[in-house]
Amino acid sequence: DWTMDHVVDMEVEKIREQVGDRKVLCALSGGVDSSVVAALIHKAIGDQLTCIFVDHGLLRKNEGDDVMRTLGDGFNMNIIKVDAKDRFLGKLTGVSDPEEKRKIIGNEFIYVFDDEADKLRDIDFLAQGTLYTDIIESGTDTAQTIKSHHNVGGLPEDMQFQLIEPLNTLFKDEVRALGTELGVPEHIVWRQPFPGPGLAIRILGAVTDENLEIVRESDAILREEIRNAGLDRDIWQYFTVLPNIRSVGVMGDERTYDHTIGIRAVTSIDGMTSDWARIPWDVLEKISTRIVNEVEHINRVVYDVTSKPPSTIEWE
Ligand code: XMP
Repeated sequence: DWTMDHVVDMEVEKIREQVGDRKVLCALSGGVDSSVVAALIHKAIGDQLTCIFVDHGLLRKNEGDDVMRTLGDGFNMNIIKVDAKDRFLGKLTGVSDPEEKRKIIGNEFIYVFDDEADKLRDIDFLAQGTLYTDIIESGTDTAQTIKSHHNVGGLPEDMQFQLIEPLNTLFKDEVRALGTELGVPEHIVWRQPFPGPGLAIRILGAVTDENLEIVRESDAILREEIRNAGLDRDIWQYFTVLPNIRSVGVMGDERTYDHTIGIRAVTSIDGMTSDWARIPWDVLEKISTRIVNEVEHINRVVYDVTSKPPSTIEWE
């Protein structure tokens, strides 16, 4: 594509001019925006870029390894992966209020990032994946007042960096095209939105290792079957949630009293409103059967058929 080709060259030139021989830091989340920013800046200045990837232990199955493989190995980027699971889970112990969870995770993210950034020397710039829509929406985002929307991109205010925001004139579809042009793999470029607080807000009530395992494994099955059915580009977001309930079931001759998994799948244009996705019943059947058979402690699967409003996309 001539246009994107041209955009890449221009952006690369701009970044080189601005940065010179100095160093840039980037917070990598594995999402579309931060991955494309990192790939773009890496193309411009190579090893002068260092990325910090905070793994808070609340990511989806294989997500941390995938970021390291595709961007670290594939692009040969300097990425510092911080395994901070214990730190985050420690802080979250016994916390069941959704906003409290968001606050703890958002703050802890800043502390962890700060600790790592402190160890690095001579960093002048901080790269961020701010989009044009982030700028025009800030201050008018009504969802902000409903849920605090802690984004993993939230960074310390007292950091003395100059900001580089090469995507801040682009819309999401342009960022995807740019990422494709830069060779960022399709599964990252087309990744569904994933909230900063991760799986913590898909476990209703307190987060535990056992609950994380249940929601992570069931989510992996759902994603695999949605992809197999060729529906992954049609559905805005699809994931599982673990409500804080148990119900009676029967397995073999045994009575069970175990957890329920909720499936949430929605179509949407921008996440502000959404409708529940009309997933074909045979696909739902396959997902349900697999989750009950393959994920321990699940004896029931339900499908969420509410739109937003009155519901929200996430359950917390
Ligand atoms: P809701 O649940 O408010 O979600 O309908 C709208 C969109 O925002 C995402 N979401 C979040 N993203 N931090 C984020 O970075 C959050 O705390 C958060 N809460 C919701 C949600 O996944 C959907 O795409």
